Amino acid sequence: MLAIMGAMDEEIELLLADLQDQETLQRPGVTLYRGVLDGLPVLLAKSGIGKVNAGVTAAFLLAAGATQVIFTGVAGGVHPELRVGDIVVSTDLVQHDVDVTALGYAVGTIPGEAPAWAADKQLQATALEAAREVEGVRALPGRVASGDQFIASREGVQRLWTQFGAACAEMEGAAVAQVCAKVDVPFVVIRSVSDTADHDANVDYRTFMPLVARHAKQVVRGMLARLGTTAQA
Ligand code: ADE
Repeated sequence: MLAIMGAMDEEIELLLADLQDQETLQRPGVTLYRGVLDGLPVLLAKSGIGKVNAGVTAAFLLAAGATQVIFTGVAGGVHPELRVGDIVVSTDLVQHDVDVTALGYAVGTIPGEAPAWAADKQLQATALEAAREVEGVRALPGRVASGDQFIASREGVQRLWTQFGAACAEMEGAAVAQVCAKVDVPFVVIRSVSDTADHDANVDYRTFMPLVARHAKQVVRGMLARLGTTAQA
């Protein structure tokens, strides 16, 4: 079953409003919703903000039967060409706040783990196609950098760009990626740019959230239409 996650209410409420035959599955600290969206059985969940919340929620979704995971939400643009409203579809994900360099590991690498987690190619292609159908939206594939930090400075953006080649910064995706990769479940992260992670980021983020949340919903619906066709083929 397909699972759709977001970190905040705004990121999933539009999808939740359209979820048919809704059933709630209560888990410690997290509510999962099971139902039918555009004819497909799905699980839906709000994780809360940050990598731990995202990792825990992903684990509950997998235990509830998720076989593919889509994370949708907003991000700060890092790639210099990204503008508010653009969409990044994850090629791979890194945890930019991990630092075990004192023991000789590359910045971002957790000992015993891959330095980055690759998103599923098929889900990436489907997400890009669906995103490019949303009017007025530019969609790019790119690396998503996650960390328990809201990036709001030129230096912060510069670091993510030069150290990681990140396209955007957010706070959950790589945790979901790490959990899914452990059990070989395909995933993709779709992020709408709500700000450019600079000193105006906190203002832009609040202003543009409703618009980008609508875009995110349209991308997920576009993906469901395509995944539904594949499932029936
Ligand atoms: N989510 C949206 N904007 C962000 C930013 N600037 N940093 C981290 N997460 C974000």
